[in-house]
Amino acid sequence: MSDSTDTSPSHLANDRYLRALSKQPVDMTPVWMMRQAGRYLPEYKATRAQAGDFMSLCRNAELACEVTLQPLRRFELDAAILFSDILTIPDAMGLGLYFEAGEGPKFQRPLTNQRDIEKLGIPDPEGELQYVMNAVRTIRRELKGEVPLIGFSGSPWTLATYMIEGGSSKAFTKIKKMAFADPQALHLLLDKLADAVIAYLNAQIAAGAQSVMVFDTWGGVLSPRDYNLFSLQYMAKIVDGLTRHNDGRKVPVTLFTKNGGMWLESIAATGCDAVGLDWTINIDEARARIGDKVALQGNMDPSMLYASPERIEDEVADILEKYGTGSGHVFNLGHGIHLDVPPENAGVFVEAVHRLSKPYHSG
Ligand code: CP3
Repeated sequence: MSDSTDTSPSHLANDRYLRALSKQPVDMTPVWMMRQAGRYLPEYKATRAQAGDFMSLCRNAELACEVTLQPLRRFELDAAILFSDILTIPDAMGLGLYFEAGEGPKFQRPLTNQRDIEKLGIPDPEGELQYVMNAVRTIRRELKGEVPLIGFSGSPWTLATYMIEGGSSKAFTKIKKMAFADPQALHLLLDKLADAVIAYLNAQIAAGAQSVMVFDTWGGVLSPRDYNLFSLQYMAKIVDGLTRHNDGRKVPVTLFTKNGGMWLESIAATGCDAVGLDWTINIDEARARIGDKVALQGNMDPSMLYASPERIEDEVADILEKYGTGSGHVFNLGHGIHLDVPPENAGVFVEAVHRLSKPYHSG
């Protein structure tokens, strides 16, 4: 497949990940890990210390590129994911993102009412967010066509939870109060965020992202009716607004709602190419329900990486068997890798997916 004389921008030495997303035959099941660049890697901690704080690392294209590539040097991953954060958009909207040690992300100026929301502008991806596009361009250059680069964004609902709660939340009382007491204000915000995400992801695609993923980390805290109203509707708007082809290749879009197993049919009906699964649903059931429409990404419990190599391999084997034969599966964890996982265990996981999946692709 690899041809060293082919220098066309769309040429990839390893395009297993993109092939699986469009259900073309592959030799092995492709694998990458959500949050594959991060604090479980000592080399990440070293680069982060060099940058100072987390946002300085994101704003430095060379260092963001370095940490993006770190996991690919250790493991035979089939895709790279842009090193950045979903909260770059709210930060660019003027909310003042900062990180308090051990407490996660916070905003200096959270949104409290419709007036705050009316004042928000749509950030210019090549203006306030140009540092993200510079990181995409640098990473594409340094990947040298080895594997595809995934761009990403948060979903409007998930971004809104941080913007209204002021940081991470467990009960989501402030945003739910707005959803039910002042729905017009929340819809105004979600619609602006959908426009901002469309501009942001299209700019990532123009800068070189070969696939994009929308993280809806908190859609699963809503009732079925409110999930459609406040989260899925806006992700569907994003899917409709994206540039889906570039460099003569399809740019697939993956939607991931954590705890969204109940709603797979409606997620697949947005026209997305793939649906991300967490570990609370069996992948055979997911395939039976939506596998004719979309590819599936997932879905090993990230905590399984604390287990012995034998247990990890056994779990990988079980998920591969459940998915069954044929293309259309991108192996991943069901959520981000934990920060205290031994890196060797991530290596066991990636190697096991490749080795154990070969018999499922021999036809
Ligand atoms: O997958 C990757 O390797 C790409 C990088 C990536 C990061 N954040 C880097 C990061 C991605 C895709 C994200 C997405 C993100 N950020 C989500 C959605 C995905 C999910 O996990 O559901 C959310 C909810 C956020 C918001 C956010 N940013 C949180 C909750 C945190 C952790 C705070 C903490 O201190 O643990 C961050 C910071 C962050 N984003 C880190 C990394 C590697 C850790 C920062 C550090 O180095 O201290």
